[in-house]
Amino acid sequence: MPTYRDQTPSQYMTKSLSHTRADRAIDGFLEINRLSQQAGVVRQLIEDDEFHGDTITLDGNTVSNFGLCSYLGLGDDPRLVEAAKDAIDRYGNSYSSSLAYTGLGLYGDLRARMQEVLGAPVVITASTTLAHHASLPVLVRRGDLVVVDAQAHASILSVLPALSGNGAEVAQVQHNDLDAVADHASSTKGRVWYLFDGLYSMHGDTAPAEGVYALLDASPNLWAYCDDAHGLGWAGEKGKGQFLHRTGWHERLIMSFGLAKSWGSMGGVIAAEDEKLIETVEATGGPMVFGGPLPPGVLAANIASADIHLSDELPSLQDELMERIRFVNITAQKYGVRLANREETPLWYVEIGASMKVLSTVKTLLNRGHYVNGAVFPVVPRGKGGIRFTVTRYNSLEQIEDLLSSIGEVLAEYQGHDDIVDLTALEDAAETADDS
Ligand SMILES: Cc1ncc(COP(=O)(O)O)c(C=O)c1O
Repeated sequence: MPTYRDQTPSQYMTKSLSHTRADRAIDGFLEINRLSQQAGVVRQLIEDDEFHGDTITLDGNTVSNFGLCSYLGLGDDPRLVEAAKDAIDRYGNSYSSSLAYTGLGLYGDLRARMQEVLGAPVVITASTTLAHHASLPVLVRRGDLVVVDAQAHASILSVLPALSGNGAEVAQVQHNDLDAVADHASSTKGRVWYLFDGLYSMHGDTAPAEGVYALLDASPNLWAYCDDAHGLGWAGEKGKGQFLHRTGWHERLIMSFGLAKSWGSMGGVIAAEDEKLIETVEATGGPMVFGGPLPPGVLAANIASADIHLSDELPSLQDELMERIRFVNITAQKYGVRLANREETPLWYVEIGASMKVLSTVKTLLNRGHYVNGAVFPVVPRGKGGIRFTVTRYNSLEQIEDLLSSIGEVLAEYQGHDDIVDLTALEDAAETADDS
């Protein structure tokens, strides 16, 4: 059994603890969260009366915003806003009925457009998380083997108990370890499901899409389920996402997407070439039968966003973002900022180390006028804390250069802050909960 230090937080979170240990872990986590909140680093509410993307106000301080996932800057696009207002005028704020009975025609309009974007049949869900919950328990059967990437998103992990409850076996492979997936596939004649993210939301690295595709070709019993929540919109023709852009469809590939990031609205999508599979998820997936719908304003904003993605305007929006992405990768080198990964995606991670040092760095960057996301234990493994930052079309090149020069300076001459508490004891408490 590996020790916690050898494990990713996702492995840790999916382990079952005794009641006492779980209580101790939760108390430790809650206290870390409270203190990080007091330090002004997590769970902050912005104070702005209006929001237009590039800056936010925290604690009276207006700072450049490098924590937004609306990569193409569509969240406040007037076309999405007007479409939402119009739909609310016509249908009200909520049309409350399970889609199993009735739904707004807007659903049909959105589905038709998403099919055009993705080039395959789709189901619209209320979120990416619910896309996983609607599809995986229906698709994975008793006796199947489910192989999960060690860094797969928590929303995928949240479905695993249902899958093992249904009689599937669940195993984990190291991050992006396709050889291990291939070994699992060749070890059985039964069906094997590989569950992974298309674009990992912490380090900004991507799945080896071409390798997954080749493995699907080589292993007739293998199915791939990819969560490309962060990859949709800003990449690929019609915004079909960075994963599909690299591979295209495969008959045993199932894609899930999020509409709350680059798409500028909210919701989720499941897509696959197999029409019957999509029909099955729509007709029988738990949240599709027992859950509520997206509200009219959100549906209409998603449709307006789809129209932008299907228009001639999209390539220029994607190019503007790519210019910023490339600028980050070049400018980071100029200022000696060690990015965990330099793929051309709109999010990056800079490893810093101990939680206290991370909180202090985030706070210092805030004081210098830049907001970035701090990632501390237990969200990332202990000792591997860091800052995650995103870039959107809202950010100017000047803002990006200022941020990276600040990160370079702050990390070069790290200064502790008296107002940041030492989290070591709490981390110990949370960690010893795992000393089984
Ligand atoms: C990779 C990934 N999948 C799923 C989600 C959850 O998305 P949603 O809020 O649409 O459920 C996120 C989160 O933000 C994510 O980063």
